[in-house]
Amino acid sequence: MLPSMPTRNDPRQYEELAGEWWSDRGRLGMLRWIAEARRRWLPPPPAGGGRLLDVACGGGLLAPFLAGTGYQHVGIDRSPSAISLAAQHGVRAARADAGRLPFRDALFDVVVAGEILEHVPDFRAVLAESCRVLRPGGTLIIDTLADTWWARFTAVTVGERLPAGPPPGIHDPGLFVDRSALVEQAGRLGVSLTLSGLRPSARDYLRFLCRRGESVRMLPSRFTGGLLVAVGTKAA
Ligand SMILES: C[S@@+](CC[C@H](N)C(=O)[O-])C[C@H]1O[C@@H](n2cnc3c(N)ncnc32)[C@H](O)[C@@H]1O
Repeated sequence: MLPSMPTRNDPRQYEELAGEWWSDRGRLGMLRWIAEARRRWLPPPPAGGGRLLDVACGGGLLAPFLAGTGYQHVGIDRSPSAISLAAQHGVRAARADAGRLPFRDALFDVVVAGEILEHVPDFRAVLAESCRVLRPGGTLIIDTLADTWWARFTAVTVGERLPAGPPPGIHDPGLFVDRSALVEQAGRLGVSLTLSGLRPSARDYLRFLCRRGESVRMLPSRFTGGLLVAVGTKAA
């Protein structure tokens, strides 16, 4: 009998990877670079401070980039080890499903859904919940992988073999996100999204490979067919 192939996008992988979230050269390294890049889209908080929900916050990698910004960082994730790590890094973290957020409507000034839509069977449910808990005038920041051959090639075929690239098996390309459907669905929920691409700086990545740098800048680009960022404001 042939040995069975491990299932792609298996949630148990996050328990096995628990020690990698905060490791500079670990298997989740690129997530830290992406977390830093999200700052670019973060609006200033309302006077007196704001609430930011980090949907599927993982190990809380966004925390250092929110420190001192005036946002209270609230996170949910379904991985127990990730939630515990996020809490250790100052996130008000709770275990919950991204498709059923345990919050009232319009509670948050900003909702970040980073690297989660491509991990769920129904991205529309997570999008709907993210929009529901966002206040009118609030900002939605999504990053995810587009449903294209290029995203499959860069994030799976090649990416899973690269240092700091996605861990093998973490992605199921069948769940990658159709860009038109994302924009259309968000529009129906009152959020008009603008899409841009995100790619690692080649220079920084070479330095990283040569051990001359520990971090890699993720640069915005016009090409949205790979890793993409979708940002919008909820209609008042
Ligand atoms: C690729 S990681 C991204 C983590 C974090 N957003 C970041 O960018 O560093 C995906 C995360 O989604 C979580 N996750 C997957 N499906 C989920 C669901 N249905 N509800 C909540 N969290 C989920 C996993 O446990 C994991 O922490």
